[in-house]
Amino acid sequence: MRTRSLALGVVVVLGVIALIPPARGEQRIADHDFIGADRCRTCHVEAYRVWERSAHARAFQSLSARDQKDPRCQSCHTMVPADLGAGLLGVQCESCHGAGRYYSVEWVMRDDELRAQVAFDPGGVKACVRCHTDSSPSLSPFVVEDKLRLIQHWPDRPAKAKP
Ligand code: HEC
Ligand code: HEC
Ligand code: HEC
Ligand code: HEC
Repeated sequence: MRTRSLALGVVVVLGVIALIPPARGEQRIADHDFIGADRCRTCHVEAYRVWERSAHARAFQSLSARDQKDPRCQSCHTMVPADLGAGLLGVQCESCHGAGRYYSVEWVMRDDELRAQVAFDPGGVKACVRCHTDSSPSLSPFVVEDKLRLIQHWPDRPAKAKP
């Protein structure tokens, strides 16, 4: 009887500890599911090369030093505002394809159904219009077909992505 209530006590204490949220401002790379473009590059060399030269890759650098600290600008110009020192700057692969911690393992990547269950997004226009809104400073309207062509990092074929 004694041991049982002792065990119960331990369980309760552990439960309470698990419920305590981490202190604000302490978010580290391990606390979210983004792994960064360098990791995607290990298997997607070509896609990485195209992306690396794109405006998306430079989206954080093109802000002034002051604006880089402004949460209003960070939301679209970098992938993980809480983690500015960890190779997650700019608009990276996972800004469009979903946080990669769980799907980036090869056997998951090869399994359409499984990867869809762990945040993988094959890429599509739904991702674009989260940031390319009416208020973003563009000289031309966001015509999806044209803009997709400008970021093409996949082999030529009819576009899968439909609005
Ligand atoms: C360990 C190797 C590996 C890593 C790391 C990896 N992938 Fe993949 N990925 C693959 C393989 C293999 C396929 C091909 C699956 C197939 O053809 O069925 C794939 C397919 C894809 C596809 C195409 C899916 C489709 O339906 O055509 C996208 C998009 C993708 N990966 C994005 C990423 C992103 C973003 C990352 C980084 C977060 C990443 N991958 C990391 C191996 C990897
Ligand atoms: C809703 C998403 C969003 C927010 C928030 C946002 N931007 Fe942008 N920004 C964009 C997009 C999308 C583009 C690219 C537009 C295009 O060229 O089609 C862009 C482009 C820019 C460019 C031009 C980059 C270049 O090299 O041509 C600058 C500079 C810029 N933004 C600054 C800012 C600043 C400063 C803030 C904060 C006050 C901010 N942005 C907030 C989405 C956003
Ligand atoms: C701005 C959004 C965006 C970014 C950033 C982005 N992708 Fe994509 N990606 C897409 C879209 C959209 C498609 C699908 C286009 C289509 O099929 O019409 C795609 C397709 C792919 C494919 C499929 C290729 C195939 O053979 O079907 C791979 C692999 C891929 N992306 C990997 C990456 C990697 C790796 C990165 C980073 C280095 C990256 N993507 C960055 C939007 C993005
Ligand atoms: C996380 C926010 C975000 C997402 C998602 C996003 N973009 Fe962007 N995009 C930006 C920002 C910010 C810039 C400006 C980068 C700079 O120059 O500083 C930009 C620039 C561009 C540019 C270069 C400017 C131009 O008009 O020629 C193209 C093309 C583009 N995006 C296409 C796309 C497409 C297509 C998608 C969806 C598949 C997409 N973007 C998704 C934020 C985003």
